Amino acid sequence: KKILVLHGPNLNLLGTREPEIYGSTTLTDINEDLCQQAKKAGIDLDCKQSNYEGELIDAIQQSGEYAYIILNAAAFTHYSIAIRDAIAAVKTPVIEVHLSNVHKREEFRNNSVISPVVEGQISGFGINSYKMALYHAILKMSGDDY
Ligand code: DQA
Repeated sequence: KKILVLHGPNLNLLGTREPEIYGSTTLTDINEDLCQQAKKAGIDLDCKQSNYEGELIDAIQQSGEYAYIILNAAAFTHYSIAIRDAIAAVKTPVIEVHLSNVHKREEFRNNSVISPVVEGQISGFGINSYKMALYHAILKMSGDDY
């Protein structure tokens, strides 16, 4: 089985978008880094980005071939009940990631409507948020537990 990395709105602009918050790494850099990490573990990884809520929902609904979804739902995190419902509807476990620490930013970012239906949330470690999520998925897929 494979792993799906799903990036939400505005993450296509990484590198130039508010670099003081999100860093200067581009989305392509992140995806390449994650592909390398997965390859070392002998696991296939697909990466998708969309600015559209419905496309993210379609990807979650059609995630049957994946053992894990690593999801940065970006701003949708804070208000998309539709994405939350899609996660709740499928069996594929989801790991919620954020580059920034959403708990120490504006109040409207402090709440995640998807957190109650994901396996866990990793927030505030920049690109390492994704890498730690992937590390967890790889450990779980190889039957390792802690
Ligand atoms: C984000 C945090 C969100 O609040 C924001 O809307 C984003 C990115 C992050 O990765 O830190 O677009 O999910």
